[in-house]
Amino acid sequence: MDTQSHWDRIYTDKAPTAVSWYRPHLETSLSLITRVASKESAIIDVGGGESTLVDDLLSRGFRNITVLDISQTAIEVNKKRLGEISNRVRWLIADITKADLSHSGYDVWHDRAVFHFLTRQRDRAAYLRQVANAVKVGGHVIVSTFGPEGPMKCSGLDVVRYDAEALHREFGVHFRLIESTNELHQTPFGTVQQFLYCHCKVE
Ligand SMILES: C[S@@+](CC[C@H](N)C(=O)[O-])C[C@H]1O[C@@H](n2cnc3c(N)ncnc32)[C@H](O)[C@@H]1O
Repeated sequence: MDTQSHWDRIYTDKAPTAVSWYRPHLETSLSLITRVASKESAIIDVGGGESTLVDDLLSRGFRNITVLDISQTAIEVNKKRLGEISNRVRWLIADITKADLSHSGYDVWHDRAVFHFLTRQRDRAAYLRQVANAVKVGGHVIVSTFGPEGPMKCSGLDVVRYDAEALHREFGVHFRLIESTNELHQTPFGTVQQFLYCHCKVE
């Protein structure tokens, strides 16, 4: 099954609150984004899934939000949940390793639990070319993956786990590591998963 069909299947079969990565609000992401973004900042949530981050950004007055996901099903669920205000958001259905993103189009790049699915070096390289192209110099990259003690699989797919040093190494010298933090995420099934969040500035 290709990647898009895999994710469409997940989002068709499961309620938004029944996936392991579900949280009512992405508090850590929100806190990192609101610290670095102004209301006019161009923010892209890469692999936003069905998360309520977009709702929370809209309600805080952020006006330039793009949500990208490979799953059309997830994007449709978001639009339905948001109703009329969904037209304040730019929605992109695309594979992030191949998406057509404008050069220096974004001030803030956010990814929670997408990069870690890129187990092939060539896919990580394609992702990193996208970040380098799409985020302005001086912009911010906030990426969250499973940490070293996190699961080795998610939704049936293998993942790569990172500590802050290893994740920063993937991004390279043009990304200055500003801060990193670990989070113990409680899944809806009562288990705990270790997530790592890294905030880098593009130099
Ligand atoms: C584990 S979920 C995380 C969703 C959301 N970021 C959150 O924290 O709730 C991973 C998301 O990445 C999307 N995804 C996976 N591979 C992708 C790719 N290559 N390009 C774009 N989106 C992708 C999936 O459809 C899914 O919505």
